[in-house]
Amino acid sequence: MNNIVLVSSFDPINNENIEDINKCNSLDTMFYFYILFSKYCSIKYREEMIDLALKNSGIKYQFFISLSEMPVKSIDLSSIVSDLNKKGINDVKFLIHDDKSYLVSQNKILSTNGKLKVDENGYDHSKGIRALENLYTSKVIIDFIVNNHLYFMPLIENYIKGKRLVHCISVANTAYDIAIANKLDRPDLYYIAGILHDIGKQASTDESLDIMEKYYRNYIDMPEFSIHEFVGVIYAQKLFPSVNKECIRAILSHATGDENMSPLQKVIYSADKIEPTRGYDSSALINVCKEDFNHGFLVVLDKNMEFISQENGSLSMNLFTRRCLKCYLNKWIK
Ligand SMILES: [Fe+2]
Ligand SMILES: [Fe+2]
Repeated sequence: MNNIVLVSSFDPINNENIEDINKCNSLDTMFYFYILFSKYCSIKYREEMIDLALKNSGIKYQFFISLSEMPVKSIDLSSIVSDLNKKGINDVKFLIHDDKSYLVSQNKILSTNGKLKVDENGYDHSKGIRALENLYTSKVIIDFIVNNHLYFMPLIENYIKGKRLVHCISVANTAYDIAIANKLDRPDLYYIAGILHDIGKQASTDESLDIMEKYYRNYIDMPEFSIHEFVGVIYAQKLFPSVNKECIRAILSHATGDENMSPLQKVIYSADKIEPTRGYDSSALINVCKEDFNHGFLVVLDKNMEFISQENGSLSMNLFTRRCLKCYLNKWIK
């Protein structure tokens, strides 16, 4: 039997962890998870996420957590080896995830006294997930984080609540699905932009005016419905300083559209109008976007202009939407 002890906080388990496990796996490999202390999430949740990530993978593993319920400065790897030896488990190797992953044999550990220094401030690939810099993990883990209000969620939920939160999660899921179906790079960014896109919507009128005067003086005449795009940018950057710039651009154009839109901007604009909780049957439009997001965007933009022209034509007269129509759908320019 090939016995590998995995050492990390798994907070949460990320794609790099999963790739390394797959690389080291074989029919006779057993993995022992040694989960380091973390202040961000309980061991119970982290175990549940590992279970979700490895479910149906055929990987054999056990949790081995008894020494990690408190913060520690270093871990005595040789004592883990002797604990396992006592259970008749020999030939142990370690796969350690921190700033970089490395595999070491039992002998090498013993020759360095078996101490592994734990650096709480060191780079850990899960850190980016917690800070919404990336979501490099399985979609089931993303859903678990969101449904259980972990990591970035309490911050988001201070600003987006109730029905609006349901809408934002639905935009995130729709945008993610469209990105996957179109084989677009970084589907995680589609999720992030989706969940953040309306973060400026609950700001008070005074607060919104303050932000417009301070940061967007040139756009102070933009219509009321578009103000939350600008406020959202400021909130998203304040709450999540490492959020990707492309996500910020998508927040800034999700309601009005703009010229020269990136794939992320087009998908977020579309997902915002067609996510399934909007209250009408949007399944055909979602399918069009899944087949071809560029074409889908044009269809959604056209439908939205039709809707706006029946309701209140002036919405399309703002600077951003005019630029958008000039670039993509000239027929609506009057
Ligand atoms: Fe919005
Ligand atoms: Fe929205």
